[in-house]
Amino acid sequence: MFKKDFPYFSNSDITYLDNGATTQKPKVVIDSQVEYYEKYCSNTHRSNFGHANTATQNFENARKTIKEFINASKNEEIIFTKGVTESINFIASSFAKKFKTVIISSLEHHSNIVPWHMQNRSLGNGLEVVKCNENLDFDMEHFEELLKTNPNSFVSVTHISNAFGKIHDITAITKLAHDYGAVVMIDGAQSLAHLKVDMQTFDCDFFAISGHKTFGPTGVGAIYVKEKYLNDLEPYQTGGATIHQVDFNSSTLLASPYKFEAGTQNIAGVIGFARALDYISHVGYNNIEIIEEELYKYLDHELSTIDGIIFYNDIHDSIGSRSFNIQGIAHDDIAILVDKMKIALRVGHHCAQPIMKQLGIKGTIRVSLAFYNDLNDINMFITALKKALSMLRD
Ligand SMILES: Cc1ncc(COP(=O)(O)O)c(C=O)c1O
Repeated sequence: MFKKDFPYFSNSDITYLDNGATTQKPKVVIDSQVEYYEKYCSNTHRSNFGHANTATQNFENARKTIKEFINASKNEEIIFTKGVTESINFIASSFAKKFKTVIISSLEHHSNIVPWHMQNRSLGNGLEVVKCNENLDFDMEHFEELLKTNPNSFVSVTHISNAFGKIHDITAITKLAHDYGAVVMIDGAQSLAHLKVDMQTFDCDFFAISGHKTFGPTGVGAIYVKEKYLNDLEPYQTGGATIHQVDFNSSTLLASPYKFEAGTQNIAGVIGFARALDYISHVGYNNIEIIEEELYKYLDHELSTIDGIIFYNDIHDSIGSRSFNIQGIAHDDIAILVDKMKIALRVGHHCAQPIMKQLGIKGTIRVSLAFYNDLNDINMFITALKKALSMLRD
């Protein structure tokens, strides 16, 4: 029903089931970027002529759109980045480095593991990991133990696991963390494509978002920073557009958020990102949730009929991504065969090697859905999978 809004689907006959990696972009998003480049391409916050003012205004309107979309309190709380990876690296090096302990979960993406290694943290040495149980649920009891033994720590956990689709209860995690004096950052890379996020309800201190996972452009994202932390945050990089006054001995920085946005920004990307959020509002999360729930249940049901299927979690408290293996079959072989049948999906560790190691596997086959998918996509995939299996089992 919504595929008509996305040029990719009229230009290709691919069954696209790799939305966890990146989403397709609606025409309105592509058009908004083309319009910037074709009609008013100018830098922001510098020159004062008509098109430059339009670019600045649209860029700042985009900040407001994002602020409203995630229900932040102030525009200044939204700082643009290249995506979730840069958002986490920014907060890790500009704020979280001073914390003795950082607590993550075992379901994290490498983008929320490696930045902590760059600070020479390792397990038990400045880095603690909340276990998950056999259904990949976040273990709140273990979390509380870690918070008790490491009060005033920095907690950085994902909202939705990209590898398994598991949803963490961010409100409960943040509340418990705050009770023990911890500060909380959430990796929201997989959130906005599937469900409504609300900074006032979550009450987290930092929330990282990504344009390309959210029907927006690549190379753009943002970090929400709760107002009370803006002053404690050091710029991650500095340069043009971040300063008030400079001489050869010193410089004074602008106020937030400008002091954090050094150099020319991804202006078209930012404008396109905001347009993508407008588009999501137009579709509506109620619709998205209804469509995705039906697809997810149908996918799960169809997969359950496959001989030798191995799941690692049930679909309770999960969304978007479904990960599995098939007894005796290498996931790479499945990927090669279904690709020939024009099915796009991802196999492997999904940038989450530690949880794969914990489960004793090299990786999984992952089908990741978006609201524009339909039952026919799932039928095409299941048919291709069965065909691949019959070839491999022959
Ligand atoms: C859970 C999670 N965190 C972080 C990232 C990195 O996001 P970005 O591509 O915006 O840097 C991804 C992307 O796959 C992800 O799924």
